[in-house]
Parts: sequence; structure tokens; C-alpha cells
Amino acid sequence: MSSVATKMEPEALKAVVAGLTQALAETSVTTMKAQNYHWNVQGMAFGSLHELFQQIYEDHFAGQDDLAERVRALGSLATGRYDAFLKLSKVEEGDGRLDDKAMIADLRDAQTTVAGTLAALAEASAEAGDPLTEDLAIERGRIHEKFAWLLDAHLQG
Ligand SMILES: [Fe+2]
Repeated sequence: MSSVATKMEPEALKAVVAGLTQALAETSVTTMKAQNYHWNVQGMAFGSLHELFQQIYEDHFAGQDDLAERVRALGSLATGRYDAFLKLSKVEEGDGRLDDKAMIADLRDAQTTVAGTLAALAEASAEAGDPLTEDLAIERGRIHEKFAWLLDAHLQG
């Protein structure tokens, strides 16, 4: 177990690992949602949406890795099963039959949900005396909030 983890109270460590796992689950479901929409989007804005959804799933794929590897650094097993992700995640799977605007709104809402989970994780990490997880949660949260804004901008005007 890492030196950070051994210095943490067991209950605080548990809360941080649970928060990381929640964020991992929601990031994973959102990755698949963005890829689903990348594949199935249609309409006049096909090109830019196809690209934006790809940018999102590529970012989230890398984000999953950072979250899972932080769980490992804290000495716990990283969840790597879709059934567990779907049980934990407050983000639901995407529907490729949605129209372009509904896809954008659904993906925006997913970004907001993941950002909320990461904000709670940042708080739990700060309380636990784990600035490295706090930093990761803040960094990932900022990215999800940026994507929420980018997506929402498509629905205005
Ligand atoms: Fe592609």
C-alpha cells in the first residue's frame, strides 16, 4: 500500500476509494455514451458533432485510466466490469436512436453528473488528507464542466 494510503484513516480511505470508483463507473458509462453518439448521430451538424463526441470519448477513456490507477495506488482493486459500472453509475447508457439535439442534451447532463461526483470526491479527498486524489478530482471535474459548457452552447440560440 502506498505511503499516502497508510497515513489515512481507514474510513476516510474507504470514502476516497468509493468516490474514485463512482467517478470511474460514471466516466466509463459516459465514454460509451459518447462513442454511441459518435457512431449514430445524424443531421446537418454531423461533421462537428461526430468530431466533438470523439474528442469526448477519447478524453474520458484516458480519464478512466487515471481514476482506476489512483484506486490501485491507494491499495484497492480497480473495478473493471460493465455490470458493476452500470449498477454504480448515476449516468445511464445512451440511446443511439435519439436525434442530434437530444444526444447533445443527454451528454451534457452526463457531464454535469460526473462533475458533481468528482466535486464530492474532491471534498472527501481533502477531508481524508489525500491531496493527490483531490488534485485528480479537481482536474477531471474541470474537464467535465468544460464539456458540459461546450455541449450546452450547441443548444443555445
Ligand atoms: Fe470514429
